[in-house]
Amino acid sequence: MDADYKWVDGIPFPTLIVENLELLRDEFVVKDEDVITLSYPKSGTTWLLEIISLIHSRGDPSWVQSVVTWDRSPWVEGVDGYEAIRKHRPEKGPRFYTSHLPIQFFPRSFFNSKAKAIYIIRNPRDIITSGYFFWKGMKIIKSPESFEQFFQWFLQGNVTYGSWFDHIRGWLSMRGKDNFLVVAYEDLHQDRRGTVELISQFLGCKLTPEELSSVLKNTSFQVMKDNKMSNFSQLPDTIMDHSKAQLIRKGITGDWKNHFTLAQSETFDKVYEEKMAGLPREAFPWE
Ligand code: A3P
Repeated sequence: MDADYKWVDGIPFPTLIVENLELLRDEFVVKDEDVITLSYPKSGTTWLLEIISLIHSRGDPSWVQSVVTWDRSPWVEGVDGYEAIRKHRPEKGPRFYTSHLPIQFFPRSFFNSKAKAIYIIRNPRDIITSGYFFWKGMKIIKSPESFEQFFQWFLQGNVTYGSWFDHIRGWLSMRGKDNFLVVAYEDLHQDRRGTVELISQFLGCKLTPEELSSVLKNTSFQVMKDNKMSNFSQLPDTIMDHSKAQLIRKGITGDWKNHFTLAQSETFDKVYEEKMAGLPREAFPWE
């Protein structure tokens, strides 16, 4: 049976997160050397993480081929991830971790640190589409019964991690800070080479042409789909029903056009216009 959510301050979270989010926010110590992957779920988190991992290993694929994503960059708000990060030994190099937390729940010490964080954004219509197909197979989340139902939940913010509109508004307030980079899923599609170069520059790791080629080769859709360390096929059956969903599903931009009805498209546009008021629209390549 599907799990329901854990509600904190009116936001639905997956039940696998730490018991006390406030404690995580107030007591987790972010270090200046940390590298943090941030996103609203289904924005291309795993793609970004693969790029960060391969930049760190200078294009050598052995790390991404031998260690699953959640061990390379544990989920800070997850029960196991939180423990893994706390136990990280400094001699192993910088800590990498991932979070889907809305900004108001993120460890406060980050905001006074030099830790580098990259936030990936994606057309919310494609996030709905990707999410619908993914959450159907996840046993830790309340599964939608129909696309229309999930569409309505998304607009109401009754989906895991709450409202996309609030998430993006919160994190984009960090835009322009030296230790915060925003990248878009659509940019990775349009110019993966340029976007990888931007990320490597941000991380202070200039790659040789050969290293860059290897990063590009190993972050292609097909290579990632076949990499069992990155495609979630290693997630236990108790968490994911692999017959119902795949993480690396279609990997395109604009798939929403194959699934939204005209009425959904119009409803979405109306809500989008209202909720995005005042945000830096030039940051959104899907517009
Ligand atoms: P789709 O469901 O639209 O295919 P997240 O990691 O945040 O859960 O995001 C998952 C989405 O990123 C999925 O979108 C997945 O296919 C896509 N993705 C992952 N790796 C990709 C890659 N190398 N190229 C293109 N899309 C990728």
